[in-house]
Amino acid sequence: MNHKVLVVEDDLENLHLYGEMLRRAGYEAISASTGWEGIDLAVREHPELILLDLKLPDITGLTILETLHAAMSTKAIPIIVVSAISKDDDVIKAMQIGAFDYMIKPVTYEDLIRRIEVALFSEDRKSEGEEAPVLVIEDNLADGEALSEQLGSWGYQVSWAKSGREGIEQAATGEFDAVLVDGLLPDIDGFDVVKEIRRGERLGITPIIMLTVLSGMVDRLKGFESGVDEFLNKPVAWEELRVRLRSLMHLRGMAKQRVALSEVVGVITNAIELAEATEPRHNQKVASISVILGKRMNVRGHGLWILEMAGSLHDVGKLAVRRDILLKPGKLDAEEWAEMQRHSEYGERIIRPVHGFSEVADIVRHHHEKVDGSGYPDHLKGDQVRLSVRIVGVADCYEALTSDRPYRMAYSRTQALEILRRETDQGHWDPQVIAALSDSLDELDNL
Ligand SMILES: [Fe+2]
Ligand SMILES: [Fe+2]
Repeated sequence: MNHKVLVVEDDLENLHLYGEMLRRAGYEAISASTGWEGIDLAVREHPELILLDLKLPDITGLTILETLHAAMSTKAIPIIVVSAISKDDDVIKAMQIGAFDYMIKPVTYEDLIRRIEVALFSEDRKSEGEEAPVLVIEDNLADGEALSEQLGSWGYQVSWAKSGREGIEQAATGEFDAVLVDGLLPDIDGFDVVKEIRRGERLGITPIIMLTVLSGMVDRLKGFESGVDEFLNKPVAWEELRVRLRSLMHLRGMAKQRVALSEVVGVITNAIELAEATEPRHNQKVASISVILGKRMNVRGHGLWILEMAGSLHDVGKLAVRRDILLKPGKLDAEEWAEMQRHSEYGERIIRPVHGFSEVADIVRHHHEKVDGSGYPDHLKGDQVRLSVRIVGVADCYEALTSDRPYRMAYSRTQALEILRRETDQGHWDPQVIAALSDSLDELDNL
């Protein structure tokens, strides 16, 4: 199931561009080029998210926001507003009315997809503050006091470090859900403070916002490289800080959740491998290969996470296959083979109830489908075999070929690629996935 996103934008070039970006990331995009059309589609099509340009020819974006927020059927849809101007008062008003997030044009692919993911997949969209500990690193007394007071009024618990060194120390000893760092500190350069904090952080998922009077592109790039997640110009516009902080906290929440889920999935893959007794790290490697191929094929963000989970869990159904068949050393007879093949259906049934994993369940069910219809269990063909399934299928097969099996030695990577290419000529695999694989061989060596 693809998530449906409504784009309301009068500039046709932009409308087309956003539509392309959304489709590339696996979303279904519907579009409206006027405000009234937007409201109409929002009511009729029930999109899961709306991307709304604030300047429209017929009615303003703010009016649309108010209208959608007042109506029962549309009030829960998260709305991301897009503005052409960076200090736009309407953006602040939009946030006050209840827009979920905002973006300034030009909109980039990475940024758009990240914001949409936070809006769609974070658990609780309303939460703010909740005593979350925030570290403020600011040498200017007036600024530090103002920040502490504002953050406190939104419910955050603030620790204030008055120099770079003090900030690094506090970050190393305390647990913080976010860090705000002044770009210009008297003792250590703000970028170096950030690098130092990131170095000490095991998972690198604490949001870091840099407050700066520098706004050049070079500085920003330098900042992103050192690990800054967001820049805000000084003097700080409070509503802007509030929104950015809230959205980064969601992102951190999601990242934490994923780390926890990965650990549980790791336990399950251990169980699969112990039950099978033959293929050490097969599932983990299929997950890593799937992610590498996905990246090459422009899958991003949430899509990569899905590939990782599906790769790890693709054979989970083997846990339900009769042990005498699963562990049989010799050749399987027809009936046994049919039972063995059922592992993809068992796998789907195991995964299906997990909240947010419906696409993973689909991939698990279909990881043995081939684009020419010769696979199982549903004999899907062509476009019915979606990209994520094609990727995991190729990753699974490549991993199996390049590992030792009881009945044969591992093939070298070039031999494995040769075999897959031959099977592609026969129609089994998607040539584009095989091309991505062939471009990634060096990377795959290090797994
Ligand atoms: Fe399998
Ligand atoms: Fe497998």
